Amino acid sequence: MIQKAQFVISNSNPGNCPKPDRAEIAFIGRSNVGKSSLINRITGKSDLAKTSQKPGKTQLINHFIINDRWYLVDLPGYGFAKVNVKVKQGWESMISTYLTKRENLCGVFVLIDSRLEPQKIDLEFLLWCGTEGVPAALVFTKADKQSKTKTDQNIRKFLKKTEEIFEEIPDYFVTSAESGLGKDELTAFIEELVQE
Ligand code: GTP
Ligand code: MG
Repeated sequence: MIQKAQFVISNSNPGNCPKPDRAEIAFIGRSNVGKSSLINRITGKSDLAKTSQKPGKTQLINHFIINDRWYLVDLPGYGFAKVNVKVKQGWESMISTYLTKRENLCGVFVLIDSRLEPQKIDLEFLLWCGTEGVPAALVFTKADKQSKTKTDQNIRKFLKKTEEIFEEIPDYFVTSAESGLGKDELTAFIEELVQE
């Protein structure tokens, strides 16, 4: 159970993140996929992480401390076309440095928009996680936005692609920050990861 959630610090430099002395998990995914909204939903604090209808809202590495014990991290999105190349490269290098160097990171949740057919950028990102040894699980978001049949169809297609790449299906969750679908399952899984 998440009983307490507090903002700790925002950083553009992964080297300035809090001392890596506790378990940490992070949310990543395309801009606007719903990372910050889902963090608010699972912590039960609607304005903990800043959200926006416009992509590109989260621009820094944001640490939150949960139950005074472990870190939950909200990251900027990838694949956001509307910033200039320099800014984009800056974000990408910040994210990749954080994900590959953060020694206390025990789980990375890659959020995927359940409304869409498999997207190349998500599959490429997952492949990158695989080659870098980043421990990724999938979270399909915005399931409230269409019928369950459509959600299931898109998820099946996505999982088939990941199976082609990895020869196995990663752990995955189906969620909605709007309705709370999948919140308990995801929270239980995260709590197990940070326990270890
Ligand atoms: P960046 O920080 O820009 O990378 O975006 P993000 O991935 O943090 O997305 P954010 O949580 O800011 O949400 C983007 C938009 O999607 C907002 O308008 C949210 O209200 C909406 N949204 C997020 N999750 C859901 C969901 O589960 N259902 C619905 N209907 N809308 C959602
Ligand atoms: Mg965000």
